[in-house]
Amino acid sequence: MFHHSTFMISLTTFSLYLLLSLLPTTTTSLPTIGVTYSSTTRQDSPPPPSPDRITTAMQNLKLTHLRLEEPDPSIIRSLLYTNISLFLTIPNYLVTPIATNRSIARAWIYTHVLPFYPRAKITTISVGNAFTDVYPESINNLLPAISNVHISLRDLGIRKISVSTSFSFVTAVTSPFPPSSAAFQEIPGVNLIGPLLQFLSDTNSSFLINLYPYNLYRLRPEIPLGIALFQEHPFNFRDDFTTGVRYKNLFDIMVDAVVSAMALEGYETIPVIVTETGWPSSGSELDANSAYAEIYLKGLVKHLKSGAGTPLLKDGVKGVYLYELFDKEGAGNGRNWGILYPNGSTKYDKIDFSSGWKRLVNVGFILLLIVLQVCC
Ligand SMILES: *[C@@H]1O[C@H](CO)[C@@H](O)[C@H](O)[C@H]1NC(C)=O
Ligand SMILES: *[C@@H]1O[C@H](CO)[C@@H](O)[C@H](O)[C@H]1NC(C)=O
Ligand SMILES: *[C@@H]1O[C@H](CO)[C@@H](O)[C@H](O)[C@H]1NC(C)=O
Ligand SMILES: *[C@@H]1O[C@H](CO)[C@@H](O)[C@H](O)[C@H]1NC(C)=O
Repeated sequence: MFHHSTFMISLTTFSLYLLLSLLPTTTTSLPTIGVTYSSTTRQDSPPPPSPDRITTAMQNLKLTHLRLEEPDPSIIRSLLYTNISLFLTIPNYLVTPIATNRSIARAWIYTHVLPFYPRAKITTISVGNAFTDVYPESINNLLPAISNVHISLRDLGIRKISVSTSFSFVTAVTSPFPPSSAAFQEIPGVNLIGPLLQFLSDTNSSFLINLYPYNLYRLRPEIPLGIALFQEHPFNFRDDFTTGVRYKNLFDIMVDAVVSAMALEGYETIPVIVTETGWPSSGSELDANSAYAEIYLKGLVKHLKSGAGTPLLKDGVKGVYLYELFDKEGAGNGRNWGILYPNGSTKYDKIDFSSGWKRLVNVGFILLLIVLQVCC
């Protein structure tokens, strides 16, 4: 009798283990969810939040990835030992100097990376942000600058920080309808994208894109609001007849347009990181309101955590950085993008940004297993 029941338990245990092993356990393949902190540099604005408040806000929101625009060494210092992954942006105005003189790249790394790395988890450096939009006359400096930053890091023995540059979707990619027909915009007399993708492929780096369904929705009146806001509705879809895929949200359409454009250049396996996305909670436009901003953020986070990926990218993008952590104080009647008010209080009902969802499911099963073993 006793032996028999022991046998039964091991059988149950065995089948549960089997079930467990069939469940998705690939937590690592879910896109990471991070946020951008951009300091206010305007002279007339109040001082920016102290570095400690940034850390506290990140921890309260359970956000583990931080992207810094114009990174201030004091902020990087405050993140030592926090386990928060850091994405640093080299400001656009430094791109041309860095392209022409490698010691300037080295000097930047000496002040922003060397004193803190690896105690601060710096993972990525973006050389400029939407540089091709801001300095179109200097586009030819972008690759030499990226190369100088990369070489300077290697010269210092740092191999694990990847170097890339970010683009904005609406200027970098041609029409995403349908996504499979998208290509990179040609810039006359410039050969940037091909060599850049080769560099990213050689160095295991990611393609970085600022991707705002909000902006595309506003540019294209035929796009229904619901598809931009992740709303399930019978009419909220766009079919791509070339690939036979049905798209239910604009975010996936835009991501797959990027993937198609890269594939056209012969580089479909380079990971994609969305360096900026969000929805303004206030501003002069009708659709810039906190109700829509909340729906967008919640829809996006739910979509990323579902592990559904996009039709062309099974594992989805590698990561997404929400724009942005705090509203800028005194933005006047301009748009506000923050998840938090300038004083740090939350603007929206609780949104769970932590990325442990799939693992939690498995923890549930392990608990069940233990309960079964103890009581049966
Ligand atoms: C940071 O992460 C490592 C492993 O990922 C873990 O061992 C450590 O406890 C974490 N530290 C903090 C402060 O969370
Ligand atoms: C490069 O920059 C360094 C440090 O800023 C400076 O000392 C040097 O003269 C510059 N070299 C050239 C060729 O401009
Ligand atoms: C890129 O990643 C692959 C697999 O993870 C690894 O084998 C290779 O050494 C990496 N290359 C570089 C340049 O880091
Ligand atoms: C923070 O600012 C928001 C918006 O201005 C306001 O509604 C809220 O009461 C403030 N919270 C605190 C604790 O001051």
